[in-house]
This record gives sequence, structure tokens and C-alpha cells, in this order.
Amino acid sequence: MGYEAGDAKKGAGLFKTRCAQCHTLGAGEGNKIGPELHGLFGRQSGQVAGFAYTDANKSKGVHWAEDTLFDYLENPKKYIPGTKMAFAGLKKAKDRNDLITFLKDATK
Ligand code: HEC
Repeated sequence: MGYEAGDAKKGAGLFKTRCAQCHTLGAGEGNKIGPELHGLFGRQSGQVAGFAYTDANKSKGVHWAEDTLFDYLENPKKYIPGTKMAFAGLKKAKDRNDLITFLKDATK
């Protein structure tokens, strides 16, 4: 099972409650506890300037896109062993689809 387009409105709500304490979305909003997500799609893992990534995140060398985010967000610590992202994951495929659908536009 992989990514399928979901409900961006529900995704916005998930971002607000599950991600926004650590990540920003808009251009120039900068890093928080986690790296800024502006421009995420098409970027290699670990590339935001001025953010102190773990070696695990940097050397993962993954290209962030719908399918890689779908796998990563299910269980970040399994996908990137050694990451310092303190997030257990979104276990429901529907939640990940909604969130990724929202992120595609919101990180542009
Ligand atoms: C408690 C803070 C926290 C929460 C909550 C959190 N993150 Fe993160 N996130 C981080 C940190 C810290 C990193 C950097 C990890 C590392 O260097 O090992 C990260 C890394 C990432 C990356 C990799 C970025 C890159 O440039 O390689 C993505 C994508 C991401 N987070 C998305 C999300 C999404 C989407 C959510 C909500 C479902 C979320 N995060 C929730 C702190 C958080």
C-alpha cells in the first residue's frame, strides 16, 4: 500500500496538532525543534541550512516525496534508526494521506 491523495483540510488539522510545535511550513519561517519544511518535496533528507541534524537523518539520503513520506511518517524511528525526531508516527494510512496531501501545497 502506498500514498493516495487524501483530504487536505483534515491534513491541516493533523499538522496543527501533531507537527506544528516542531516544524514551520512557509518560506523563511525558519527552524524550530525540527527543520523547516518549506520546499520539502524534492529535497534530499538532511539539507536545511543551519539545522543540526543527526548523522542518521543526514546520511539517510532519501528524496522526500509522497511515497517516502508515507513510509517515514508511519514510524520515523524505524525508517531512520537513530533520528532525534520525537514522534511516534501516524499509524493510519488515511491520516498519512491526508497530511501529505496538505503538505504538498503548504510547503510550496
Ligand atoms: C517533537 C518535535 C517533532 C515533532 C512533533 C515532529 N517532528 Fe519532524 N523532525 C523533528 C526533528 C528534531 C527532526 C530532525 C531529526 C534528525 O535530525 O534526526 C525532524 C525531521 C523531520 C523530517 C525530515 C526533514 C529533512 O530535512 O530531512 C520531516 C519530513 C519531518 N520531520 C516531518 C514531520 C511531520 C510531517 C510531523 C508531524 C506528523 C513531524 N515531523 C513531527 C522534530 C519533530
